[in-house]
Amino acid sequence: MSDVLAFAGVTVTRGGKEILSEVDWEIEEGQRWVVLGPNGAGKSTLLQLAAARLHPTRGVAGVLGEVLGTVDVFELRPRIGLASASLADHVPGDEIVADVVVTASYGVVGRWRERYDRLDLARAHELLEALGVSHLADRRYGTLSEGERKRVQIARALMTDPELMLLDEPAAGLDLGGREDLVARLGALAEDLEAPALVLVTHHVEEIPPGFTDVLLLKDGEVVAAGPIEITLTEDNLRRTFGLDVILDRHGDRFTARAGTRD
Ligand SMILES: Nc1ncnc2c1ncn2[C@@H]1O[C@H](COP(=O)(O)OP(=O)(O)OP(=O)(O)O)[C@@H](O)[C@H]1O
Ligand SMILES: [Mg+2]
Repeated sequence: MSDVLAFAGVTVTRGGKEILSEVDWEIEEGQRWVVLGPNGAGKSTLLQLAAARLHPTRGVAGVLGEVLGTVDVFELRPRIGLASASLADHVPGDEIVADVVVTASYGVVGRWRERYDRLDLARAHELLEALGVSHLADRRYGTLSEGERKRVQIARALMTDPELMLLDEPAAGLDLGGREDLVARLGALAEDLEAPALVLVTHHVEEIPPGFTDVLLLKDGEVVAAGPIEITLTEDNLRRTFGLDVILDRHGDRFTARAGTRD
């Protein structure tokens, strides 16, 4: 079984409808994955499984060497960092930014929490610094802009030093500068050998950071293709995924896509 993720025939049914069908997916340590697909394809559902926040209706979902359904998810979840809009909605607006980050470590192991409070706080500040938002540490979360919140969410997800980091559309709602800044920071994370395995969900190839290794293309709950970006991110696979002709261009380590056909 793969170290990080091993899904075999994973199917999720909701309200009589299959929203994920027979998904096979393996992530090895050190890989950095992008999940691409249109609205409603099942991307967030896939991340919920990887985050041990949802069990498959059928199939076997292995996460960090454990099989969902046979393991205490409360022990597994702290090993996984998740940044998503739905989680962020639960952060109270009046919470201080540094606390938003530091509280991610609460409940991990109650024992070290009490004793290492100051170390925790130092780590939270380090992470805010790495994401370029340390100057906001004392602000209330509710007063931050969308882009600032995204960066705080990523710092929070990294707080427990996870083995697997999941990012659901981290660049949604960001302006051009904010997106480029975030893409660069995620690129730096991708190149950090100490960083956890990464999964980034997005709708846009423009948001694929440098250093990402693999892509999974999802449509109507089914995997269209999955594998190394060099051979899997193709115009043909994008057409099959998004249902339109696409011109894909590579510019160094970045991509752009637009509707159309060559010639
Ligand atoms: N609890 C639920 N009950 C019924 N249908 C659901 C439920 N949760 C999700 N779905 C449906 O499952 C499908 C996949 O949803 P999901 O949120 O995983 O898609 P997504 O790829 O993340 O889409 P988006 O790009 O819009 O975020 C959608 O059609 C959605 O309406
Ligand atoms: Mg989604």
